[in-house]
Amino acid sequence: MKRALLVLIALFVVLMIASPAVAAGEIKFPENFLWGAATSSYQVEGGIYGNDWAEFEKRPGVIANGDICGAACDHYNRYAEDIRLAKELNLKIFRMSIEWSRIEPADGRFDEKELAHYRAVLDEVRRSGMTPFVTIFHFCLPKWLADKGGFTNPQSHVYFERYAAHLEKNLGDQVDFWTTQNETMVYLTSGYLLGIWAPGHKNPVLFWRALGNLIRSHAKAYDAIKRNDLSDADGDGAAAAAGIVMNYGIFDPYDPDSKVNSIMADKVNYFGNHLLLDSLMGKKTRLKELEPETGERILSLPEYKNTLDFIGVNYYTRFFVRPSITKPIAGMEMFTKSRAAAHSGQPFETNEMGWLVYPEGIYRAVKAIGRYGVPIYITENGIPDKTSKKRARFIADHLGWLKKAIDEGVPVKGYIHWALTDNFEWAEGFWPRFGLYDVDYASQKRSLNEGGAFYAEVARNNGLTAPMIRSVYGPEAASDEKTRRDRLFDRNGQQAGY
Ligand code: GAL
Repeated sequence: MKRALLVLIALFVVLMIASPAVAAGEIKFPENFLWGAATSSYQVEGGIYGNDWAEFEKRPGVIANGDICGAACDHYNRYAEDIRLAKELNLKIFRMSIEWSRIEPADGRFDEKELAHYRAVLDEVRRSGMTPFVTIFHFCLPKWLADKGGFTNPQSHVYFERYAAHLEKNLGDQVDFWTTQNETMVYLTSGYLLGIWAPGHKNPVLFWRALGNLIRSHAKAYDAIKRNDLSDADGDGAAAAAGIVMNYGIFDPYDPDSKVNSIMADKVNYFGNHLLLDSLMGKKTRLKELEPETGERILSLPEYKNTLDFIGVNYYTRFFVRPSITKPIAGMEMFTKSRAAAHSGQPFETNEMGWLVYPEGIYRAVKAIGRYGVPIYITENGIPDKTSKKRARFIADHLGWLKKAIDEGVPVKGYIHWALTDNFEWAEGFWPRFGLYDVDYASQKRSLNEGGAFYAEVARNNGLTAPMIRSVYGPEAASDEKTRRDRLFDRNGQQAGY
């Protein structure tokens, strides 16, 4: 008996030494896990004046500090430098979007020169050994289409399909990962209900109409990509995958003991995180929204079914929800800022934009999205952080939670940080600094910041080594698993001084 035990122990020791398993105090991601950084055309390129955002910005007071996007980061001219900077971070994915108003500046007129520009960008990305992750629609419509009502136009899906087919036909040999739309629900809520983004509507009727058209547009674009996909760009034997990027918000009841608060939070969670995906995965949606003109049940048409090869999850923050009679349209309030502190008495941490920092949320997000049974990519996660003193900790905290979900079997295949460089942050203008590289907008000089340097090490090591963990969590954390776990998992981002 004793002998058997000794043999067992010896075997265990040999196995430990022989296996490439994670050394104590490391957080290693699966082999082939992909690390990336994100950009989006309007936010970085500069010189885009033919879309609805450029028009929207002309309204007084809509952008903080009176900023206009203008030259942005001049990425249109400096793309080769920016791609090199991404490469220097040891990244494998370069997330970008294509500007519809450049490709199709007038209804049905496609611009060859702009197409050639994006071909050159994609070439450069691939020459650098990175895979392009290309978003077809990242919040901006060509002006001609906005003038026709944008996504409230019942024909918008026809335009969207034509544009997507054009991209696939002309750039498909360079792209294996397409995402049709970025954060459809956030776009709709901000642009059609709250009126704080282009097109600036505050109209629930237009909101529902646009939702139906966006869902239909996604499904049509998915088919167009599949139909026109003639080549396997990276030669891995798999043709183009097409998905959508959603923003997963954590919606918790303001008062967890209140049944009404919990019901409200559940409704918002469904609306924000699941309605769209249920529709696209062919699940029964909880809503039976009718298309006004035809009476069709727009959210559950059979043609939408199974039009997601993967799901891109953007994760940033958490909200507390409770009903409100002073908000008659929504019937509820959401808190993100200091008022949340009143609820728990705890010093909730917020970032520079007032969003709660809640690393556990990324775990909750992918656990929930994992149930759809398709691969997941984190397509955005990041923090506005002027001095980049908090970014490394933010990244480490979120990766710790993400790894926990992967260990539990959630098929997360990659992590793409928002953003490669500082950029134009929509209604907030240029003040929030999300970049792994700082941008000096006067000189357009890029400089790697502290968080960026940390992230480059994450990508190089495919995770966090013991010294990296020590640098973030203190000397004891790397060798003492319990200390690290306590610091990582039990504080839920509430005390770390973000
Ligand atoms: C997302 C969006 C990005 C970026 C980021 C940071 O909603 O996709 O364009 O602005 O948020 O706020």
